[in-house]
Amino acid sequence: MAVTRTAVVTGASSGIGRAIALALAEDGCTTLVLQGRNRERLDEVAAEISGAHPSATVHTAQHDLTVEGISAFCEQTKGLCTEGVDVLVNNVGGVDPSAALPCESVTSEAYESMMHLNFKIPVLVLSGLSASLNEGGSVLFISSLNATSPEAGGGLYCAPKAAVNMYVKCAALDLAPKGIRVNSLSPGYCSTRFHDQLMPAEVRQVVETTGLAAANALKGMMTPEDVAASAVFLCSDRARMITGTDLLCDAGLGVNANAGTVLGLALS
Ligand SMILES: NC(=O)c1ccc[n+]([C@@H]2O[C@H](COP(=O)([O-])OP(=O)(O)OC[C@H]3O[C@@H](n4cnc5c(N)ncnc54)[C@H](OP(=O)(O)O)[C@@H]3O)[C@@H](O)[C@H]2O)c1
Repeated sequence: MAVTRTAVVTGASSGIGRAIALALAEDGCTTLVLQGRNRERLDEVAAEISGAHPSATVHTAQHDLTVEGISAFCEQTKGLCTEGVDVLVNNVGGVDPSAALPCESVTSEAYESMMHLNFKIPVLVLSGLSASLNEGGSVLFISSLNATSPEAGGGLYCAPKAAVNMYVKCAALDLAPKGIRVNSLSPGYCSTRFHDQLMPAEVRQVVETTGLAAANALKGMMTPEDVAASAVFLCSDRARMITGTDLLCDAGLGVNANAGTVLGLALS
């Protein structure tokens, strides 16, 4: 009998979430629910998966994940996944450029916006879908190297990602009695739309060539597919004894003590 596996991926319309959705289908997930906001990009990813895996059932769930949007997304997903969910990837997150502020300038609006995007969304999505998680299932939060590596002006991004890493450990304890694993995966710099609004194109080009080529201890640029390979591992039975942990996938950016200096030189 064919084994069926159902995966739900938030932020699947772009970047790392897109790569994870494609990789989970490649790894044998037979039903996928892909959340995103942009209809066109979401449909493109769904079509890409259906083209490569014609027997897979691919659903799209277009929602802006406001508090109401999270409820609507979870209700839609529960309706689609009547046999339960085996893999949940909480990938949505990012930086609102207007919230990249030094601590002296932080506002209540910026705080609410970044905590919502990077902490509240994954916490409430897990809560909303936890009753649907099957025994033996796996939950993965996409965190960041910035959860453990600070950046000036980046407190409103780094702090909720650090909160994610701790939340994952508590959720792992909550769900272990049900045989469900919960982990986080922390990418380093990866070229996606995430960075589009954060720096001008010419600066980004220098960062992604000279800067990161030197700052990553492993030379070369990390891709969303590199992150997706680690995600698939953590969501698979090969990681069946791994829970409550964070895996760094950062091309050695974090371990390279000279990274800041090298990136600074590239930008100067
Ligand atoms: N790229 C990096 O260097 C990097 C490094 C460390 C960690 N990360 C983490 O990796 C994750 C994915 O980032 P990425 O680089 O792949 O970024 P991305 O290409 O910008 O993708 C972000 C995804 O999240 C969705 N999204 C964003 N805000 C949303 C909201 N309020 N409601 C619903 N959906 C929303 C987007 O949907 P639409 O496009 O449809 O609007 C998109 O699918 C994030 O958690 C990020 O913090 C990224």
